[in-house]
Amino acid sequence: RQPGDYLSFMIGRWPVLVVHGRDGELRAFHNSCRHRGSILCKPGEGHVARLICPYHSWTYGLDGRLLAAGRMPEVFDKGEHSLKPIHLERVAGAVFVCLAETPPDIATIRRDLTPLLAPHNLGHAKLAHQATLVEYANWKLVMENGRECYHCA
Ligand code: FES
Repeated sequence: RQPGDYLSFMIGRWPVLVVHGRDGELRAFHNSCRHRGSILCKPGEGHVARLICPYHSWTYGLDGRLLAAGRMPEVFDKGEHSLKPIHLERVAGAVFVCLAETPPDIATIRRDLTPLLAPHNLGHAKLAHQATLVEYANWKLVMENGRECYHCA
């Protein structure tokens, strides 16, 4: 909810980092340092002022820009070593990320989901309980309100 809040998780074998920027934007990145690929944030959630690699301390802004990289040659261009972005879309308080270079159009999902999610006011929801559900299914959105489970095909 606040700038600096992050969520780190895996999609398949890909580590993903979602960060709330100082400008209020949510951004998703590959959770992998551009120096030697170390994981920047362990899986879970947290809050940081900057993203600092635990390996050699390369430091990234919340917008993914490389701010500091010690012991690099003078010709090193930090501007070419920002975190690799991942596509992120917000739909009525839900967050979708897509690892594809060219993501599929989300317009249909946005059109269909927005009226379904709007009554739940997810943008102002608070986390009261968290569980991991493994769904053996194709693309689905599963939402649980504690009593019922909603499956959207
Ligand atoms: S691997 Fe991140 S600073 Fe070296």
